[in-house]
Amino acid sequence: MPAPVISVLHDTPGVRAQLVSLLTGTVAQGGSVGFMHPLSPAVADAFWAGSLAAAARDERTVLGAWAGDTLIGTVTLLLALPPNQLHRAEIAKMMTRPQWRGQGVARALLRRAEALAVERGRTLLVLDTATEGGAAGLYEKAGYTRAGEIPDFALKPHGGLTGTLLYWKRIGPAATSAAPEDASE
Ligand SMILES: CC(C)(COP(=O)(O)OP(=O)(O)OC[C@H]1O[C@@H](n2cnc3c(N)ncnc32)[C@H](O)[C@@H]1OP(=O)(O)O)[C@@H](O)C(=O)NCCC(=O)NCCS
Repeated sequence: MPAPVISVLHDTPGVRAQLVSLLTGTVAQGGSVGFMHPLSPAVADAFWAGSLAAAARDERTVLGAWAGDTLIGTVTLLLALPPNQLHRAEIAKMMTRPQWRGQGVARALLRRAEALAVERGRTLLVLDTATEGGAAGLYEKAGYTRAGEIPDFALKPHGGLTGTLLYWKRIGPAATSAAPEDASE
C-alpha cells in the first residue's frame, strides 16, 4: 500500500462519523483505547466532539490517515499539560481500522505526530499501552523506551483487567544528544 495521506482533523459531520465508526469498531475488536464494549455511537460521538473541540482550542491535535475518502486510522497528540511540563506531549487514541492493519498506517501517524510535537517545541513524548493486546511492539520499533509496567491498570473492552506499559521518547534537539532512537529507521 502507498503511504497513507495524513492530515489534521477538524470537526465536520463526515469526519465525526468516520471517527465514531473507527472507535466503536476498534473497541469491539478488543482495542484498549479507554472504552468498554459495546461502545454506543452516541458515546463515541460525544467523545470525538469533545476531543475535536479541545483541538480547536489548540489543546491537542487529532490526526487522521486516509485512503481516498476513508479514514483508516487516527492518533491524538495531547499538548495541554501542566505549566511545568510544557516541554512534553502525550500520544493517545492510536488506532487503525482492522482491515487496514499491518500496512504501516500507525507508523505513519506516529511519525507525523512526532514531527508536529517537535514543531511545537516539545522535546519529550510519553504514552501508555495495554500490556495485553496493546501496541508495545509498534512503539518499541519507533524508538520508545519502556519505563515500566503498572499491573491491573484498566479493564479490557470485553472485561478482565490488564496492566499498562509506560513509554517515553526524546524528540527534537534533545534527541540528538541522547541514546539511539528510532530502531526502524
Ligand atoms: C496498534 C495498532 C494501532 C497498529 O496499527 P497498524 O497500522 O497495524 O500498525 P503498523 O502497520 O503501522 O505497524 C508498524 C510496526 O509496528 C508493529 N506493530 C504494530 N502493532 C503492533 C502490536 N500490537 N504489537 C506488536 N507490534 C506491532 C508492526 O509489526 C510493524 O512492524 P514492522 O514494520 O516491523 O512490520 C492497531 O493494531 C490497532 O488499532 N489496535 C487496536 C487499538 C490499540 O490497541 N491501539 C493502541 C493504543 S496505545
